[in-house]
Amino acid sequence: MYDCHTMYILGGTSARSIAEDISKSLHEPLLKATYKRFPDEEFYVRILEEIKGEDVLIVQTAYPDQKIIELLLMQAAAVEAGAKTITVALPYFGYSRQDKKFEEGEPISAKTIAEHISLHASGVITIDPHKDHILKFFTVPAFGVSATAEIAKYLKPKHIDFILAPDKGAKDRAKLAASIIGCEHDHLEKTRIDGNTVKIQPKNINVQNKTVAILDDIISTGGTMANSIKELKRQGAKHVYVACTHGLFIGEAKAKLLSSGCDEIIATDTIENEFSKVKVAPCIIDMLLEKFEYVKN
Ligand code: R5P
Repeated sequence: MYDCHTMYILGGTSARSIAEDISKSLHEPLLKATYKRFPDEEFYVRILEEIKGEDVLIVQTAYPDQKIIELLLMQAAAVEAGAKTITVALPYFGYSRQDKKFEEGEPISAKTIAEHISLHASGVITIDPHKDHILKFFTVPAFGVSATAEIAKYLKPKHIDFILAPDKGAKDRAKLAASIIGCEHDHLEKTRIDGNTVKIQPKNINVQNKTVAILDDIISTGGTMANSIKELKRQGAKHVYVACTHGLFIGEAKAKLLSSGCDEIIATDTIENEFSKVKVAPCIIDMLLEKFEYVKN
């Protein structure tokens, strides 16, 4: 798709460091832009360089709500400036957990957001989408790429004996990480009571005196992980690490995790915070090379 041309990178306010990492690694230019907010908090963006007829990669995490508006306006700015192609890299795709109508009268929020992003995009790359089917909500080619291998590389030196998924949905992720680390894996049984409460069922696994890492796609309120940590500690685990791709860490999540007895909290930089220890730029670059036929300068 990129035909050996320069690929201009526009890093939004929620993913500047990922955009810089991609730019450094591929030796492609980072576009200069002005971002500001008016007194009434409305967003303003202006691309300060010529991109007429050029390929542009916009990198912006679509979370929280205002970052989605920023993304839509960045895309619109690139269209107005005459960009030839606009690829959107969404490190975290907000609203992805409302991936279906759970109750009559609800929207499929992930679909609505995807359709709006697709309006001015030639293609989309996102990291660890909550469910694969949400990629089909984009009306342009959209690809998901997993950060599990990068997280596993971070965990490997910690001599992990066991990788656990907190529920069945995350078990393939645990399997992949375990194969990279060279350890055992399993999943716990989780029942969600409501948005803030989950119940983790004990499982017959022997974690006595073992070093265990629990791996999930999202840590939001921390309830899933905190309950899993408590259960593993109750079963005699020596060390418990918690790792996720998207660290939202809402409210008291950090305190909840630490007081449950975990040794370390690990997240990627899809949402930047104090636990962003794993970089996702290499994952986005892999997708550019594989699916978008980008050729390195
Ligand atoms: C749910 O399906 C996700 O994979 C995570 O397990 C969930 O979002 C974690 O939420 P919380 O941290 O609020 O328990």
